[in-house]
Amino acid sequence: MPRLHVNIDHVATLRQARHSKQPDPVLAAGLCELAGANGITVHLREDRRHIQDRDVRLLRQTVTTLLNLEMALTDEMVAIALEVRPDQVCMVPEKREELTTEGGLDPAACGERLDPAVKSLRQAGIEVSLFVDPMPEPLEAAARSGADFVELHTGAYANARGAQRESELLRLVTAANYAHELGLRVNAGHGLDYENVLPIAQLPYVEELNIGYAILCRSIYTGLDQAVREMQDRILAAAPEMD
Ligand code: PXP
Repeated sequence: MPRLHVNIDHVATLRQARHSKQPDPVLAAGLCELAGANGITVHLREDRRHIQDRDVRLLRQTVTTLLNLEMALTDEMVAIALEVRPDQVCMVPEKREELTTEGGLDPAACGERLDPAVKSLRQAGIEVSLFVDPMPEPLEAAARSGADFVELHTGAYANARGAQRESELLRLVTAANYAHELGLRVNAGHGLDYENVLPIAQLPYVEELNIGYAILCRSIYTGLDQAVREMQDRILAAAPEMD
């Protein structure tokens, strides 16, 4: 059964809407951990639209589970990661105009920047993950880069319906098996919610799910504690039945 990492970016989105101090992502992270989250994920975007540098530094001091930093492959972000030392880094592509991360990273197109970045982060004791579409080429390039993990992009699956969703799920199953064959560990995330999470929690080899928006939306009605617990319950349903 995979572990749940809660992405708390949108706590900061709400705070930045008024450039105030509330709601505080650090407090939200603690509540998620108390509710049973196995890790906290934040994306420090280059435009700093939600999470700020200060949040990442404070979270490094307060998170007692695992801190996963999502970031673009830039010198600035690699330097911040090397200084702050999150437990994990997940490299994502970033576009200024996008509302959220749109596609996976194309490791083969990252050129000569990727391998040294992966190497220096791993040497600093940080596990490295690359957020990729569930296709053979990015998986092969991820394996060549020396990354520990891939995070399979579940956005196309989440957006699809009916037969199309089944075929997206099959792509994810195939990709998870292939990633494992290539020696990569497997995470998954993006667009997951209470209704679509179960088949993803049952993917072969999947270790962590990164889920943000759905949990934060539900928390407005139920509180963060219950929203995290309900998601954990849905993931728990993926565990094989014991006699
Ligand atoms: N994984 C990655 C790499 C992401 O960029 C995001 C969005 O920030 C997520 C997971 C979480 O996606 P969602 O907010 O749709 O659950």
